[in-house]
Amino acid sequence: MLAIMQTNFNGIDDLTAQSVSKPKLTADSVIVKMNTVPVSPTDWKLESDQHATNENLAQLPRIIGIQGAGLVVEVGENRDQHLLNQRVLVINPAGTYSEYVRSTNPDWLFPLPDAVSNEAAAALSASTALTLKKFIDSSDADNLILTGANSVIGLTLLQLLHGESKPIYPVVTAESLAYFNTQMPNLTAYTSDQLPKLTGKTLILDTVGIVGLLETLVTHTTNASVTSIVIMKDPGLPNFKFIHDDFNADDYRLFIQQLATGELKPLINRTFPIAETKKAQHFAKETHSRGRVLVAF
Ligand SMILES: NC(=O)c1ccc[n+]([C@@H]2O[C@H](COP(=O)([O-])OP(=O)(O)OC[C@H]3O[C@@H](n4cnc5c(N)ncnc54)[C@H](OP(=O)(O)O)[C@@H]3O)[C@@H](O)[C@H]2O)c1
Repeated sequence: MLAIMQTNFNGIDDLTAQSVSKPKLTADSVIVKMNTVPVSPTDWKLESDQHATNENLAQLPRIIGIQGAGLVVEVGENRDQHLLNQRVLVINPAGTYSEYVRSTNPDWLFPLPDAVSNEAAAALSASTALTLKKFIDSSDADNLILTGANSVIGLTLLQLLHGESKPIYPVVTAESLAYFNTQMPNLTAYTSDQLPKLTGKTLILDTVGIVGLLETLVTHTTNASVTSIVIMKDPGLPNFKFIHDDFNADDYRLFIQQLATGELKPLINRTFPIAETKKAQHFAKETHSRGRVLVAF
């Protein structure tokens, strides 16, 4: 079967499409025929830097990707037989960019209701957004600034913050102001130099990871704290914290339910065929964020 493999840390252009053996069904597993997988910044970071994230995905060669949507085509004898022929979202740190994935952990397999497409499930990025929301809920800040507010995680967070009482100041690049307005017409976005001077405690939430941008934003505040999901080590910013999501199966079940009811709106950009995975990653990396770029089998 076809798989997209990372064999070194030379970046996107050294990914290879290889023919590897199809995983064999075991009593405790199910086999998922993959349909749609997402492209995220974490992919190209991991392809060029083994210390890019705090996940342990540095052992090479490896099949890229950790989540995707597909159809269960084989079910092991110890697994729920109703899974056969179900569309599912599968989380698989051993790789999802392959025609078939063997899933052994029942907590990492989520049947999809008819109302949730494979694309919407593959694009789901709500776990990190929820981690940020929980951080906001526990904060005593008077104001919130969100960098990269048009990013997939930024817009997902803003969906989760619907009804938030603290004033929110979304910060985007000039090129993304119009797109942000189409996504969040009830919020005013600012470029970093347009941001008004904020008094009181301000929590700056960062989805971009550019220290200079954060330093500029700090100058617009009187009492700032910076929390980033990108910068792992404190670069000398006030009250700096790095936070990352811990996988929680109940959260995923809730997100899928919220996608089905429309409470969460999927953020989807273009879909590329699997043979164009490198092109898909370049496109996602080199254009402004307009939803999740997807790759389809
Ligand atoms: N800590 C965790 O647990 C965790 C988990 C998953 C992901 N992440 C990280 O979270 C980050 C966001 O992920 P995502 O999928 O939401 O990303 P995304 O949709 O690709 O968005 C990236 C954002 O960064 C902005 N940006 C890029 N270059 C910029 C610059 N020079 N100046 C200002 N803004 C700039 C983009 O603005 P434009 O669109 O205007 O270019 C966009 O808003 C990634 O770095 C990812 O690795 C962290």
